Amino acid sequence: MKIVMLGAPGAGKGTQAKRIAEKFNIPHVSTGDIFRANIKNGTALGKEAKEYMDQGKLVPDELTVRILLDRVAQEDCKNGYVLDGFPRTIPQAEVLDSELAKLGTGVDYAINVEVPDDDIIGRMSGRRACLKCGATYHLSFLPSKKEGICDNCGSELVLRDDDKPETVKKRLDVYHEQTQPLIDFYNNKGVLKEVDGTVAPDDVFKAIEEILK
Ligand code: AP5
Ligand code: MG
Repeated sequence: MKIVMLGAPGAGKGTQAKRIAEKFNIPHVSTGDIFRANIKNGTALGKEAKEYMDQGKLVPDELTVRILLDRVAQEDCKNGYVLDGFPRTIPQAEVLDSELAKLGTGVDYAINVEVPDDDIIGRMSGRRACLKCGATYHLSFLPSKKEGICDNCGSELVLRDDDKPETVKKRLDVYHEQTQPLIDFYNNKGVLKEVDGTVAPDDVFKAIEEILK
């Protein structure tokens, strides 16, 4: 099963992708997490990506596509995966489509998690992220068991560098301009599914389970 998560920054793509991955036993592939892991480890890729990410801009398609295709070519992805944060532009979606077509397959579900912009800014300031395993929490909506520590792997939780309000606004602009057109793209392919992302995380997941069962 190949699933694409769509939605604005902070809509809950990562939160839900993690649950889908656990339930269906497929890898959760997040380009944002891959970039953040590279930044943390000080790689050349991380240095390049950070310049764009800190300004709320997209990392160039060419680099992002290369990383994603490398990742999904790995053995653990052979039975499917859930993509979180990719594709984010029409050219990225077209490359993914043509690579999958070569293998005789395509995206099975594109799940759009809908949350209005007004709700997003408040969510981001309360988000805490684990840079080691990619888990995300929220100080009020989804707290970790022990404050500041990841439930999954015990690492320290941080406020992401790109979660400052000015940067979030920029990310929302970029989303509307470059990523929102993917809703029509996947609708035209007949694989688009929409869920209300403003309800509690458990209820969002229930709606997704209904779609996937
Ligand atoms: P990325 O890491 O993908 O960030 P994003 O799309 O901006 O999305 P977020 O991770 O911020 O939000 P999310 O939807 O995953 O929400 P979450 O589940 O954490 O990308 C970062 C940057 O990397 C980009 O800006 C770009 O520069 C670069 N990049 C990445 N991929 C790229 C690509 N393909 N091409 C080019 N550049 C790329 O939830 C948010 C918060 O809300 C959390 O605190 C969570 O606990 C809470 N929450 C979740 N669900 C709910 C709920 N239902 N109710 C209340 N709170 C909730
Ligand atoms: Mg995320």
